[in-house]
Amino acid sequence: MTQNPDIRIKTHDEQMLMWEAGKLLSRVVADLKSSLKIGMTTAEVDAIAESLIASSGALPAFKGYRGYPATICISVNEEVIHGIPGPRVIRDGDIVGIDIGLIHKEFYSDMAVTVGFGSLTGARQRLIDVTRQALLKGIAEARPGNRLGDISHAIQEYVESKGFSVVRDFVGHGIGRELHEDPEIPNYGPARKGPLLQSGMVFAIEPMVNMGVEHTKVLPDGWTAVTMDGKPSAHFEHTVAITESGPVILTE
Ligand code: MF3
Ligand code: CO
Repeated sequence: MTQNPDIRIKTHDEQMLMWEAGKLLSRVVADLKSSLKIGMTTAEVDAIAESLIASSGALPAFKGYRGYPATICISVNEEVIHGIPGPRVIRDGDIVGIDIGLIHKEFYSDMAVTVGFGSLTGARQRLIDVTRQALLKGIAEARPGNRLGDISHAIQEYVESKGFSVVRDFVGHGIGRELHEDPEIPNYGPARKGPLLQSGMVFAIEPMVNMGVEHTKVLPDGWTAVTMDGKPSAHFEHTVAITESGPVILTE
């Protein structure tokens, strides 16, 4: 956790541009989801995402970021985040995390969803539902007067109450003219701690939830994070603005 986070406050005009970016990204994600099919390779999904972002007039945010080679991160089953698109085929019963970002008028937007294919086990379906709901629980705390820890704590408490575990090795982040700004946003920790939240802050909140142990490791490709026990993991992310009237999900 950053000791002295330098959290940038966005003006109203900047928030409007980030809202435009979020709107473009949520449309790209909706179109991408409707084009997915069992039997596709993860590289094919990446190619579709790349062309959808290009048609939107925006730029892909991840390609080239610290040498990352693709438009999306795509993480199947035991892959937690940062899976690199390639020859892996999506099969019946898989759960697939898709993390995608774009740049619009100099502002970043970042979003992730986990999609189930065909008939899922009950446990996999619950993992997806709990992770989506955990994100919403965290977002609900993103309002002026609360502290950063209120977001983190709400996510952890909800996830653990459902018998799943919260990944600690990766966190959410501030977002704006950079993909990753201060503060780091853990998905665990005590309530009422950390920086005070203010109107104009914009956060990418992104719980990663494991069916088994919370621990992860990065594969030799240098990117793909997988669960230590090989059990499935899910991930949802929204870009969220904090306003006087509460949280506004920009990627909705
Ligand atoms: N949403 C991811 C994150 O915040 C972005 C992936 S970074 C990339 O970490 F390098 F893969 F692009
Ligand atoms: Co992110």
